[in-house]
Amino acid sequence: MGPPGREGRGTPTQNDGKTLLANGGNADMRSEHDRVCPVERAGALDAGFRRWLQNPRRILAPCVREGMVALDVGCGPGFFTLPMAEMVGTTGRVFAVDLQEGMLEKLRDKIIGTPLEDRIVLRKCTEDSLGVTEPVDFVLLFYMVHEVPDKDGFFRQIAGVLKPTGSVLVVEPPVHVSKSAFETTLRIAEAAGLRRSQGPRVTLSKTAILQKG
Ligand SMILES: C[S@@+](CC[C@H](N)C(=O)[O-])C[C@H]1O[C@@H](n2cnc3c(N)ncnc32)[C@H](O)[C@@H]1O
Repeated sequence: MGPPGREGRGTPTQNDGKTLLANGGNADMRSEHDRVCPVERAGALDAGFRRWLQNPRRILAPCVREGMVALDVGCGPGFFTLPMAEMVGTTGRVFAVDLQEGMLEKLRDKIIGTPLEDRIVLRKCTEDSLGVTEPVDFVLLFYMVHEVPDKDGFFRQIAGVLKPTGSVLVVEPPVHVSKSAFETTLRIAEAAGLRRSQGPRVTLSKTAILQKG
């Protein structure tokens, strides 16, 4: 799924997992603009059929508890951020982090003036820095790791903010992220100090849970 006018590489044709992707496959030397899911695709990330295929509460239920500090990296327009904020409750907090201000604006529009506004901290990050240093109980990396060019540096930062008892849920899309590419990603995470175990079933996806060694 490329930015408008750049069709041809991984351009989606169906309302399945592929419509949720940026320019397909693993991150490479393409510019951030070409590699990252554009803000114009935010509507597909929020589509009603997705709630049916990938119910956020069901996916998050094994990992998210009241009072937790959670981190949604590559939050996009907040498909998972809002349910996550409801699940951590008034005593918890969610850091919603994205490279693109346009995605954060869409999320800001949804929460402004609602009770969730006080629980969600929006942070614009860069490729090199997450911009979050607070220790967290849970990290969600949903359909975003394949857009990260420096996975080693990225997972080291995730390990750095994760509490010793914390966990990370990694979910990657089908087809565009092959089994071997996902395996390579998990090896990089392990080298960064994160032990892997089997993730939950998520429609159309590859999943893993990561915890500190
Ligand atoms: C395909 S979207 C998925 C959004 C959301 N996780 C969801 O499942 O609805 C990928 C998102 O990750 C963001 N992203 C890509 N690389 C990132 C990085 N290194 N750090 C933070 N966000 C990133 C993009 O801007 C985009 O909003």
